[in-house]
Amino acid sequence: MKRRIEIVEMAARDGLQNEKAIIPAADKIALIDLLSGCGFRRIEATSFVSPKWVPQLADGAEVMAGIRRRPGVSYSALVPNMKGYEAARVARADEIAVFLSASEGFSQANLNCSIAESIERARPVAEAARRDGVPLRGYVSCVVRCPYDGPVAPQAVAEVARQLLDLGCHEVSLGDTIGRAWPSEVAAMLEAVLDIAAPENLAGHFHDTSGMALDNIRVALDHGLSVFDASVGGLGGCPFAPGARGNVDTLAVADMLAETDYETGLDPEKLAAAAAFARRITGMHHEEVQP
Ligand code: HMG
Ligand code: MG
Repeated sequence: MKRRIEIVEMAARDGLQNEKAIIPAADKIALIDLLSGCGFRRIEATSFVSPKWVPQLADGAEVMAGIRRRPGVSYSALVPNMKGYEAARVARADEIAVFLSASEGFSQANLNCSIAESIERARPVAEAARRDGVPLRGYVSCVVRCPYDGPVAPQAVAEVARQLLDLGCHEVSLGDTIGRAWPSEVAAMLEAVLDIAAPENLAGHFHDTSGMALDNIRVALDHGLSVFDASVGGLGGCPFAPGARGNVDTLAVADMLAETDYETGLDPEKLAAAAAFARRITGMHHEEVQP
């Protein structure tokens, strides 16, 4: 029997947060509605962060209110603090994600605080999520390299992942934020994290700047991970990670997995249609725009 792998779709959040132009909420809603038909169990729909820091996703409430929620699909939102958590709850996010960094430089750039402070900010969010019965996901950024501090020690990643699991995250997504990790570096990082966490509680989040994201996913599969974040059209990037490219392309991951012993439950034709729409609204490939 083929091993089931879950892809968590990132295009609407990671994909759109770094766009120069502000995409209208109606287009974001249409994108999420297309994604809802592709077979995903989880779609990260938006974030509730400071609109001064990420103006592109300032319309999170409008987007969440406008989507057609498909039964069986969980629509998650990324939040940095209690203010974000409360807004995400009002917007009826099915899952909440908090995000920390394994490097101090990126923590300062992305969250304007140290790693230790960011854990203290995540703590009340975790307590509220537990109280409200909302599943909590955690991200660790810069799991191999940081755009500000350079190489990141595997032990530092394991320590932040442990803190997130202790806070009650059911899953920790390990982010190669700048997308330049080598497979050997990913293996070393995973070995450290797997000393403190089970593979069932981990996910891989690979940006694809150097074109090695698929290789890095293979390494993670060999280490027992079975959840990966990806983005239709390869959209994505963090405004606070200069030079980083998008998330690994969902269709490329699904195709690679379909060729081997894995299945994702995703419909390739619907994925291609969602990717074409995502490219169209971000203006990446004008030649694909339909009249
Ligand atoms: P700060 O400026 O230090 O915070 O930012 P503050 O508490 O002083 O607040 C500043 C202003 O923001 C205040 O408004 C707050 O009310 C407001 P003012 O009084 O000036 O009018 N504010 C908020 N507004 C709406 N929603 C909120 C919120 N919080 C405060 N939740 C802060 C600190 C954390 C808020 C800021 O740094 C921030 O929003 N950062 C988010 C950055 C971000 O979204 N980055 C991208 C996502 S992470 C990512 O992409 C990586 C990932 O994909 C994995 C990977 O690839 O590695 C997950
Ligand atoms: Mg990311």
